[in-house]
Amino acid sequence: MNRSLPRNFLLVGDVRTELPKLPAASVDTCITSPPYFWLRNYEVADQIGVEGQVNLWVEELRLVLRGVARVLKPQGSVWLNVADSYSRHPRYGAPAKSLLLGPERLAVALAADGWIVRNRIAWTKPNPMPNSVTDRLNATWEFMYFLTRSPRYYFDLDAIRVPHRTAQRSDARADIEESPAPIRPSWAGPLAGSQGGLHRLKRSGIPGHPRGKNPGDHWSLATASFRGAHFATFPPRLVERPLLATCPERVCQRCGRAWERNRGLVGDEVTWRSACRCGAGWEPGVVLDPFFGAGTVGLVAEAQGRQWCGIELNPQFAAMAHQRLDAARLDRERGERRAA
Ligand SMILES: C[S@@+](CC[C@H](N)C(=O)[O-])C[C@H]1O[C@@H](n2cnc3c(N)ncnc32)[C@H](O)[C@@H]1O
Repeated sequence: MNRSLPRNFLLVGDVRTELPKLPAASVDTCITSPPYFWLRNYEVADQIGVEGQVNLWVEELRLVLRGVARVLKPQGSVWLNVADSYSRHPRYGAPAKSLLLGPERLAVALAADGWIVRNRIAWTKPNPMPNSVTDRLNATWEFMYFLTRSPRYYFDLDAIRVPHRTAQRSDARADIEESPAPIRPSWAGPLAGSQGGLHRLKRSGIPGHPRGKNPGDHWSLATASFRGAHFATFPPRLVERPLLATCPERVCQRCGRAWERNRGLVGDEVTWRSACRCGAGWEPGVVLDPFFGAGTVGLVAEAQGRQWCGIELNPQFAAMAHQRLDAARLDRERGERRAA
């Protein structure tokens, strides 16, 4: 039940005091970018990211993620965008000039807490921040971890497939079963991935999945900024893909379980079925961002017909997020009036 979860609502305060106020098992997914270790000053007391040592930063985020685990529905997931910083002194946790390996340390700590690390996505930036450094390479990518609590979780791959490069047969059927086929070369180790589904498609004369291919774990997206915010905001497209894959379009109004889309032929009208026996209606799924900043997750959620809940420590950033959300709502209303 998620009756008392504030919807499309921003809680202004410290994530460590606000998150415990949210009901358990109430959000479908969490998409967030916490403060990185000593990379920005968010100009407010109690900010995360200014601890004395990188392992203390890891511990703070580990505790926040424990709180997120409590508010996630059992089939929920987390997308965590983090980047590394360079040490200036051994007291930060690594020799001066060394990467602190903060994202890696965090992932290991989260795995020890029971998180299942399903992906480590490289978000590469075609427009990285220029850097005057001359004795190493410029840092041009960041991590996006995809984490779940359970081996079975909500994931709508069809919603995020991308076009194939090779030509597609026009009569290709989309309802081909993607069962793990028993084709395993003799050299494959026990942890090697299965390509059985793809081999089956190829045998039926189809070069790839008729609905498009898996987007993979390397995303090239330009950075974004928002006038007024002196920190990097999420590029909306970095939020869109996680949201479409893991925040269900429809969930049961009573028990909160995701409805399922019926798989059919490519181009068929989408039909839905409830995965529970509640017999209740549906509502959109909810995405949480406990480090809301200027509110990009809320903006993308509303544009995609999902609900959101945010937490932000700095009241000025919270006001900025409200302004952005109000402006986007006005734009949409104007667009709808023009289209009517
Ligand atoms: C990387 S920014 C998030 C930007 C956001 N993704 C966007 O698109 O605008 C991190 C945010 O975390 C906030 N923050 C820092 N410490 C916090 C805390 N203890 N509780 C809640 N928010 C905090 C900062 O004020 C900042 O707005």
